Amino acid sequence: MARRKKIYEGKAKILYEGPEPGTLVQYFKDDATAFNAEKKATIEGKGVLNNRLSEFFMTGLNQIGVPTHFIRRLNMREQLVRACEIIPLEVIVRNYAAGSICKRLGLEEGMQLPRPIVEYCYKDDALGDPLVTEEHIAAFGWASQQDMDDIVSLALRVNDFMSGVMLAVGIRLVDFKIEFGRIYDGDFMRLIVADEISPDSCRLWDIKTGQKLDKDVFRRDLGDLTDAYSEVARRLGVLPKMPHGKPTLIN
Ligand code: TMP
Repeated sequence: MARRKKIYEGKAKILYEGPEPGTLVQYFKDDATAFNAEKKATIEGKGVLNNRLSEFFMTGLNQIGVPTHFIRRLNMREQLVRACEIIPLEVIVRNYAAGSICKRLGLEEGMQLPRPIVEYCYKDDALGDPLVTEEHIAAFGWASQQDMDDIVSLALRVNDFMSGVMLAVGIRLVDFKIEFGRIYDGDFMRLIVADEISPDSCRLWDIKTGQKLDKDVFRRDLGDLTDAYSEVARRLGVLPKMPHGKPTLIN
């Protein structure tokens, strides 16, 4: 295939110019990083799984009227997405205490939170994506008050959708991170869910055993990351199947 112009390369994905104006091709790499890229590895098959899983979640969100950048999957590692202006925030929704909130507030890992908590981090690798408040967001003009109202309500809808989908296959959605982008239709601007939704950006625990099925497996050396992500994909029925029935993760 003729190689397209590379627009941007991040830690886990590459964006190429799309076939039509207003589109991009999002390529999922096998690279995994943690702790602001202090820890790195290549995990064969991760990109294929995340491409499928992000397709699955974004398609479901589109179907319930939460707009996303996802248009269609192109192949094992690539999807066609709408080009958008990324808002420089990582929007985190937490249902149970885990990760940084435990350290910050001294909470016990696994504690159910009194209600879903939405947090924002400013997307800046050099600064380690620091936690910010709506005051910083408004003062520095990263998003308007109207944007923030939309972001919170969309993030909570994503949380309800994802929690329900995962609960149905025996998995607890502990927390997740999403990103938003702006698209313009003439003078009209709206926000859409962008980037990816995959076990790289969620915490997913088996409801019965508590087994971790997300990137914490890599962050904390708990086992094989592809096995964990394959288990999530298998339960959701989204694993690409070979004729002999085994999943195919290499292309
Ligand atoms: P945290 O507990 O480290 O703040 O992470 C909360 C959630 O956000 C967790 O599901 C992992 C996800 N996340 C990312 O996807 N990217 C990041 O850079 C960070 C820090 C967290």
